[in-house]
Amino acid sequence: MIEAKLDIVENQNKKPKPEGDDLPFGQVFTDHMFTMEYTREKGWFQPQIVPYEPITLDPAAMIFHYGQSVFEGLKAYLNSEGDIQLFRPEENLKRMNRSNGRMSIPPISEELVINYLKQLLLLEKEWIPNEEGRSLYIRPFVIATEANLAVAPSQSYKFMIILSPVGSYYPEGIHPVSIQVEEHFTRAVRGGTGTAKTGGNYCGGYKAQEKAADRGHAQVMWLDGVHKKYIEEVGSMNVFFKINGQIITPELNDSILEGVTRKSIIELLKHWNIDVIERKISMEELLQAYEDGQLEEAFGAGTAAVVSPIGELSWQDETMIINGRQTGDLTKFLYNTITGIQTGKLPDTFNWTET
Ligand code: COI
Repeated sequence: MIEAKLDIVENQNKKPKPEGDDLPFGQVFTDHMFTMEYTREKGWFQPQIVPYEPITLDPAAMIFHYGQSVFEGLKAYLNSEGDIQLFRPEENLKRMNRSNGRMSIPPISEELVINYLKQLLLLEKEWIPNEEGRSLYIRPFVIATEANLAVAPSQSYKFMIILSPVGSYYPEGIHPVSIQVEEHFTRAVRGGTGTAKTGGNYCGGYKAQEKAADRGHAQVMWLDGVHKKYIEEVGSMNVFFKINGQIITPELNDSILEGVTRKSIIELLKHWNIDVIERKISMEELLQAYEDGQLEEAFGAGTAAVVSPIGELSWQDETMIINGRQTGDLTKFLYNTITGIQTGKLPDTFNWTET
């Protein structure tokens, strides 16, 4: 049984808040963090907010050896009344439990975590940026802590939430990026862990990312692992195309991560009566649409970048220049609408935000 009483130890040694224009993604952390432990006997217990500091783990802790872990990413904003606003936090926590299920990690009460998170945010309110394009990135994560080299699920875990004030995910901001379609390496395969937000899915992509960077591209577009034919994701984001007025995004399968931003975009487009479809889309089809002059816009969608326009796409010997390397109108409109709802500048007709 989870113990609901939260202990709070205040940090007596607070850090200065970041100043100036430069706030790189994920490098500055706030004064406090949330931690909670799990053992088979006790379940989840000892929820606490403590000063942000390094943690001690046994070198044999299973996280170091077999990577049993999951993480989430969501953001907090300050609205014009100065209240803390979260965007669809229950969607992230539901997904965290789906990831936990896939990685054989015990589930965590979503309601309690939201409650603990809100208490942590209240304590760290001064860290929430209110400048345009900035927010407080929230990183909940679970790691396997049992000291044991056996290849089996850990008997103990640590759940933590850390907070980081952030600017744009890409140093370019919301400017169109150049993408290389990866033909050899695979992000995820059917039956694998692609639908779980787990570290290995991300570091498994570094090699392809390095290859793309060597060729002057910012990111990689991932194809399905079986046929290397159908488009799955871009970088660490879901992907959308506007072809002849219709919006297409790859349909979910068991190798695509179900993004909260992806879901919100589909719901927004449907609400606006814009033609949107979730289906398989191959590179051949995309190239044909490009050659026919019908590939109007392309963008990635994820929590960190929100929406990231694709200006150039290289596949085999072909280079597609999309919308003259300019951010498309729909891409811009979606970015402005989602960030507008997230920051409280636009009305939240969908009840997506929580204060
Ligand atoms: C997201 O934008 O949703 C991500 O997963 C990016 C994160 C890994 C930094």
